[in-house]
Amino acid sequence: MADLTLTVTATQKQFMDADADEVLFGGAAGGGKSYGQLVDALLYALKYPQSRQLILRRSFPELEHSIIFSSLKFYPTKVAKYKSGAHTWEFTNQSLIEFGYLANEKDMLRYQGAEYDVVRFDELTHFTEEQYTYLMSRIRGVNNYPKQVKSSTNPGGIGHSWVKRRFIDGTEPNKVQTDKESGMRRIFIPSFVQDNLFLMEADKGYQKRLELLPEAERKALLYGEWEIFDGQVFAEWKNNPKGYLNRRFSHVISPFPIPPHWRRFRTFDFGYAKPFAVSWFAMDEDGRAYNYRELYGCTGTPDEGVRWTAQKIARAIREIEEREEKGRTITGYADPAIWNATGSNEGSIAEMMEREGVYFEKGKNQRLAGKMQVHYRLAFDEEGLPMLYFFDTCKHMIRTLPGLRYDSVSPEDVDTRQEDHLYDAMKYVLMSDPIAPRASVSPPSVSYHPLMEEPSAVEKRFVF
Ligand SMILES: Nc1ncnc2c1ncn2[C@@H]1O[C@H](COP(=O)(O)OP(=O)(O)OP(=O)(O)O)[C@@H](O)[C@H]1O
Ligand SMILES: [Mg+2]
Repeated sequence: MADLTLTVTATQKQFMDADADEVLFGGAAGGGKSYGQLVDALLYALKYPQSRQLILRRSFPELEHSIIFSSLKFYPTKVAKYKSGAHTWEFTNQSLIEFGYLANEKDMLRYQGAEYDVVRFDELTHFTEEQYTYLMSRIRGVNNYPKQVKSSTNPGGIGHSWVKRRFIDGTEPNKVQTDKESGMRRIFIPSFVQDNLFLMEADKGYQKRLELLPEAERKALLYGEWEIFDGQVFAEWKNNPKGYLNRRFSHVISPFPIPPHWRRFRTFDFGYAKPFAVSWFAMDEDGRAYNYRELYGCTGTPDEGVRWTAQKIARAIREIEEREEKGRTITGYADPAIWNATGSNEGSIAEMMEREGVYFEKGKNQRLAGKMQVHYRLAFDEEGLPMLYFFDTCKHMIRTLPGLRYDSVSPEDVDTRQEDHLYDAMKYVLMSDPIAPRASVSPPSVSYHPLMEEPSAVEKRFVF
């Protein structure tokens, strides 16, 4: 019989108790996320004999210096032994906790054929979504133990955009949401430095040092804000579910029936191996634009095209418009490159589409002027109203626009190696009716900001 007393913070307890298939513990640096993972893994191993868990970091040195080092400090050696060669804790009840890393794509092969009850990613934004979903497929087993993937992370990092899209955009923190496509139940549990009274007590200068960081890092590391990260082009982007109804301080809103007299536009960026993008916009009496529909030729793997011919795309557009837009005038804009000769006797892409009854005008493709139009339109006025909204059904635009980063070579412009197709197409519509610069008003701080709340600790005593 061993006796172990551990104290966890209120948010660590929430993370440990979370009942969802995918759990994300995310936010400020030092909130106690990695420690929370270790306590949770330990208790799971003790509770479920012969269970197998995997804890991942991107590289082995990171594992060794942080999470393995921490586990050695408090894992009870009466019931578990650390095998440093295999990077594994072996428990007397035959449970295993294995530490692993995925420095490059071929490291994934090491997990081929492996089976785990729980996979845990520490610093999830250092991983790609492909690595995440691949490792998720390793979660299986014949026992009836709860199967979960539990992650902890700070904002920022190469995976910032997909993590934000998967767990945070359009969702309410601390509430389980079921993904419509996959049926997976997900929860995001925000973590703040102030939650971690152990650290706040032990190192009184810690918060002060975070306060001295540059703006973007300070927001990410001190407040755990996900809207800000270095290099994000449209840092003013807000997808705020609380603003859906009154349309204030949110660019994403619920769909509504568009009044018949509003002007309508369709805009197009061709792609074959890369996704093609078609977006429909309406403009109200004040010139405010609403992206109300999209048709995005993506396989489901980000930035991979469905390889449709121009004719097939045109037919899909025509079907949608015959069904949804009967009798309405829609002005089409497209990338001027679709009028270029293709070398085939079918003519240009534009001509092929015209033969299917889908017509476009040449869009203006000045990149920087177009980018400024997006900034001017995203800016909020005093009442929190922007000049550009997105229906929440335009999920690829909502996923890709906030993820765009600056080009390191031409730092004023968007890096064109990213998934920028819907953004590119949108610029043709906005450039057809440019607006004057607008100064932006900052939205109020996130509603779950914790500075006002007293942190609390929950004592737990475990006998096993
Ligand atoms: N419940 C706890 N009991 C004792 N110490 C704790 C507890 N939670 C966290 N700590 C300590 O607080 C410090 C920060 O915690 P931890 O490393 O888990 O934070 P983090 O959120 O993972 O930080 P980062 O964002 O930098 O990765 C560590 O020294 C950790 O051991
Ligand atoms: Mg950590």
